[in-house]
Amino acid sequence: MASTRLLSLFNAKAAGSTKTLARVGCNVCFRRSVCSSPSRLQSCMAAWVMDQYGTNGVLRFTEEFAIPAVSSATEVMIKVHAASLNPLDVSMRGGYGAKLLKLRRDPLSVMDNDSEFPLILGRDVSGVVVNCGSEVTHFAPGDEVWAAVPPWKQGSLAEFVTLTEYEVSHKPKVLSHTEAASIPYVASTALSALVNTGGLCRDSTSNKRVLITGGSGGVGTFSIQLLKAWGAHVTVTCSPNAEGLVRGLGADEVVDYTAGNAAEQLGVMERFDVILDSVGGDTEQWAIGLLKPWSGSKYVTLVTPLLLNTDSMGLLDGTFHTGFTLQTKAMQNIISRGIFYRWGFFAPDGPALDEISKLVDAGKILPVVEAQFPFTQVPQAFQKLEQGHARGKTVVRVAEEDDRQADELMQNICTKAAESQQEVLETAKQN
Ligand SMILES: NC(=O)c1ccc[n+]([C@@H]2O[C@H](COP(=O)([O-])OP(=O)(O)OC[C@H]3O[C@@H](n4cnc5c(N)ncnc54)[C@H](OP(=O)(O)O)[C@@H]3O)[C@@H](O)[C@H]2O)c1
Repeated sequence: MASTRLLSLFNAKAAGSTKTLARVGCNVCFRRSVCSSPSRLQSCMAAWVMDQYGTNGVLRFTEEFAIPAVSSATEVMIKVHAASLNPLDVSMRGGYGAKLLKLRRDPLSVMDNDSEFPLILGRDVSGVVVNCGSEVTHFAPGDEVWAAVPPWKQGSLAEFVTLTEYEVSHKPKVLSHTEAASIPYVASTALSALVNTGGLCRDSTSNKRVLITGGSGGVGTFSIQLLKAWGAHVTVTCSPNAEGLVRGLGADEVVDYTAGNAAEQLGVMERFDVILDSVGGDTEQWAIGLLKPWSGSKYVTLVTPLLLNTDSMGLLDGTFHTGFTLQTKAMQNIISRGIFYRWGFFAPDGPALDEISKLVDAGKILPVVEAQFPFTQVPQAFQKLEQGHARGKTVVRVAEEDDRQADELMQNICTKAAESQQEVLETAKQN
C-alpha cells in the first residue's frame, strides 16, 4: 500500500523505556491494558495533563482523570486509539493563546482564574465511538472515527475525548488509527485556509498556480496532496533534504529556501493565483509580489499575531490592535496591487473531513507520519516536535495493539453472551 511505502520512508523512532521518561522529569507508573475494568471505564481514564503552563516538565501522567462523559444530546464520546502533535501543542503548553481560549471555554468568566487546569493537549484523534447523545444521527457505538479537537476543548492525549457530532467524521477505511491521526488538524486548517479564506474549491482549482511556503511540514505535506487532487499547479519552498518528499507527494516545482535567494528563484516563475504561507515572519514582504496583480489573487498566511496580541495586550486591546493590523495590510494590498491579503485559521469541520476521507480512501491523499511514540512517551514526542524540521507528522499511539486485542476479545464475549441469551430464550419458548 502506498501509505505504508511513505510511512517507511520515515523510519518511525518509537524506541525507549520508562527510564528515558524519568530523565525528562516525568515519573510515570504506566498501565497498558487501560479498559479492562468496567467500573474504571465509567469514572476515570489515563491522560497526560498539565496544571500550569511551562516547558516539558509540566506534562503529568495520571490514571485518575474524570472521563469526559457525553453531556449534551449532540455529543459523541470517542475511545482514542491515536493522537498527533502540532506546533500549537508546544505553544499551548507554554501558555500561548491562554486568554482567548479561556474566554472561549468560559465566556461568562464564572470559573476561577485557573479554570483551564488540568488541561489536556492533543488536537488530533483517531478512535472508536463508545457513546452517543440522544440526538446523534451520524454515528453509533463501534464506528471508527477521526476528528480535529478544537483548542478550547480537552485534547486527545487521553483515553477518551468527547466532541460534538459536527466535529467528528468517519475515518478512512484504508488507514490504521496511527496513520489517520496524522491528518485531521492539518486537513481542517488547510481546508479552512484554502477554501474559506483562499476561495479555492474542488471545481475551481484546476490549473490554478499555488505556492506553499513550508511545504515539508504537517500543513504543507497535506496541502500539496489536496491541491494536486484538485488539479492545481503546486510550487513549494522547503529545505533541500525535503525535496524528495514534497516531489513524491506531487509538488510540481520545488524551491530551496536555504539557498538564500528563494524570492529570486520564485520571481522568474509565472505569477501565482494563491499563496499559502505556513512560515510567516518576513515571508510576506517578498511573497506578495509573486502574486498575479489585479486578478483576484490571494495571499493567505497561517502565522498571525492574534493570540500573541491578546496574550500580551489583553483581550480588548489585543483584538483591536490585531484587527487594525489586518485591516491596514488588507487595504494596502487591495489598493496598490488588487491582491487580497488574508489570515487563515483552523476551523473544526466534520463534513469537510468526510470529503478528505473519500480522497484518502481513493489513494489521493497519503498520511505522512515521520515519527511515532507510545503513550508512555508523550514528553519525548514533544521534544521531537520542539526540534523543528518536521517532515510530516508526529503521532502518539494511545491504545496499543494489546488494547485493541482486549477490545476485540470483549466484543467477542459480548457477542457470545448475546447468542447464548438468545438460545436460552428460544429454548424457554419451545418449552
Ligand atoms: N492559524 C492557524 O489556525 C494555524 C493552524 C495550523 C498551523 N498553523 C501554523 O502554521 C505553521 C505550519 O504548521 P505545520 O503544522 O505545518 O508546522 P510544522 O509541521 O512544524 O512544519 C514546518 C515546516 O516548515 C519548514 N520550514 C521552516 N522554515 C522554513 C522556511 N523559511 N521556508 C520554508 N520552509 C520552512 C520546516 O522544515 P525545515 O526547518 O527543515 O526547513 C518544517 O518542515 C506553524 O507556524 C503553525 O503554528 C497555524
